[in-house]
Amino acid sequence: MHEMRRFEPPAELAAHANVTADVYAEADADRLAFWEKAAERLSWDTKWDRVLDWDNAPFAQWFVGGKINAAYNCVDRHVEAGNGDKVAYHWVGEPENDTRDITYAELKDLVCQAANALTGLGVKAGDRVAIYMPMIPETVVAMLACARIGAPHTVVFGGFSSTALRDRIQDCDARVVITSDGGYRRGAPAALKPAVDEAVAQCPDVRSVLVVQRTGQDVEWDDSRDVWWDDAVGTASTEHTPEAFDSEHPLYVMYTSGTTGKPKGILHTTGGYLVGTSYTHWSVFDLKPETDIFWTAADIGWVTGHSYIVYGPLANGTTSVMYEGTPDTPHKGRWWEIIQQHKVTILYCAPTAIRTFMKWGSDIPDEFDLSTLRLLGSVGEPINPEAYIWYRETIGGGRCPVMDTWWQTETGQLMISPLPGITAGKPGSAMKALPGIGALVVDDEGNAVQPGSGGYLVLTEPWPAMLRTLWGDDERYQDTYWSRFQGLYFAGDGAKLDEDGDIWLLGRVDDVMNVSGHRLSTTEIESALVSHPKVAEAAVVGANDPDTGQAVNAFVILRESALKDGEKADDALIQELRNHVSKEIGPIAKPKSILVVPELPKTRSGKIMRRLLRDVAEKRDVGDVTTLADSTIMDQIKQGLATGKDDD
Ligand code: WTA
Repeated sequence: MHEMRRFEPPAELAAHANVTADVYAEADADRLAFWEKAAERLSWDTKWDRVLDWDNAPFAQWFVGGKINAAYNCVDRHVEAGNGDKVAYHWVGEPENDTRDITYAELKDLVCQAANALTGLGVKAGDRVAIYMPMIPETVVAMLACARIGAPHTVVFGGFSSTALRDRIQDCDARVVITSDGGYRRGAPAALKPAVDEAVAQCPDVRSVLVVQRTGQDVEWDDSRDVWWDDAVGTASTEHTPEAFDSEHPLYVMYTSGTTGKPKGILHTTGGYLVGTSYTHWSVFDLKPETDIFWTAADIGWVTGHSYIVYGPLANGTTSVMYEGTPDTPHKGRWWEIIQQHKVTILYCAPTAIRTFMKWGSDIPDEFDLSTLRLLGSVGEPINPEAYIWYRETIGGGRCPVMDTWWQTETGQLMISPLPGITAGKPGSAMKALPGIGALVVDDEGNAVQPGSGGYLVLTEPWPAMLRTLWGDDERYQDTYWSRFQGLYFAGDGAKLDEDGDIWLLGRVDDVMNVSGHRLSTTEIESALVSHPKVAEAAVVGANDPDTGQAVNAFVILRESALKDGEKADDALIQELRNHVSKEIGPIAKPKSILVVPELPKTRSGKIMRRLLRDVAEKRDVGDVTTLADSTIMDQIKQGLATGKDDD
């Protein structure tokens, strides 16, 4: 193991940081007063009567009685404060020299136009709108326009398949879909509209599809349903009066993988979410709106993009960078070139990206001027100490502290992280709960463990940006998060406390995998495999992977009819199955390897022993097999190991 290192907070940062060390004591003394103060950073139309209503736990209401418009807070109020000329986004398209700077005044006009256009399409407060877009400014405009008129959005990551899109549209009953002809990916236009056409064919209630033209690709067109963005938004008025919505008005639904096959619709509401994201963005990144150039290098289709590309940064009047494409297009120094060009001061990204850059070598970033950087952030999975130190030294020049931020789609906001200038950094540890947040590591019985021990991460207090429920499924909300330990939020992560009491996250303890920072459910991929006519049974495990953190490893039993007499499972069949998963869920879910096996290891009660399959996938000696119904199975599986390897 890496010798444990500790980096003290830089003194000059401490002298000017947005928050001071007494913030923890302040929040401990009166947690609700602390969040109330954070809420006062925003503009409310009507002030709340009560900070928190937790009487009906685990159903929370924050800033009860307050009224607020999220889009007004993200855009209009900065223009009204005289900052209309300030850049909200330096947008960088993937093709070189395809850039666009958007000021707050321009953003306001665009959001008003889009709000008017959506209203024109019949969208009313409470109606759901699905957004399936590349990383272009219109995506932000679409989200804010929805927020402005009180129509909850559900952004579906552009890498998801038409089937995944269809399921999400149906689950939240969206009536309008906003998309584009496509976006640029790895140097070429990639299409999006065909997936929408396919999905919407099975969603009879979708009445309009609003289409941004980004690449100029040919698209199929249905006059009764499809509307060009430019025709509807481009011609709309830039005048729009924002309506103040109840603090608990739904802001968005974001689908994420759970332990069953059906994705969960995480519901976030308006006031608390905006308070939680804006406060943590300001405090954890020490955000100075006058001077910082902030870059979250994530996709808007994930919660990280929602909270730290859109709502948090805009609420704070930040200038952000937004990048459309991949890190290696047209060359492997693209990120560093963007940082140099736009003088980025804060970079927030995932460990999987850092590990990839490490593999490509330090000489690539070394060619660029990264001296404007002053702070680094990490999110999405545990950051291994090697990657942390490389990030700190090579990208941060040894001077930038690294904020390892733990949180989830469900938490909406950062929860566990160091604070700049206050908390030391230890490579691999997210350190401690942020002020106003209660986190513990508990044992099987729900008792707090002592320093030096491990267990499950739980959250002990409600927090402003917490999920309110699962869309349409209060019961599953209670079961999933609030039933494992009485009165505690079960995060699904393993964790340990070191001797100083600092928190180290150890990965998921359930059937959720983390592949390149993307959450995937083993069950969802198993269902996708089993939906293929040639597959009888499937088991999926997340095995450790040096590049992606975990990788999807599948084991399948074929149907007898799948192969003709004497025929063997060949590479073409494996490829067919991998593509099938990609079609059902999306390319991110494609198994890295698929092994055709005669049987799966099961207990006598019929439960698949994934632990043994993980041993096989990680090429370890297989552990205890005595509880298997048939102890020869593992030998048969290992003999099959030579086949079914991934080759791309
Ligand atoms: C994992 C992403 C360790 C964790 C914001 C969590 C992390 C899941 C960290 C949520 C971190 C996220 N250290 N693990 N700093 N950040 N995770 O919903 O397992 O896509 O439960 O939200 O990612 O993933 P989600």
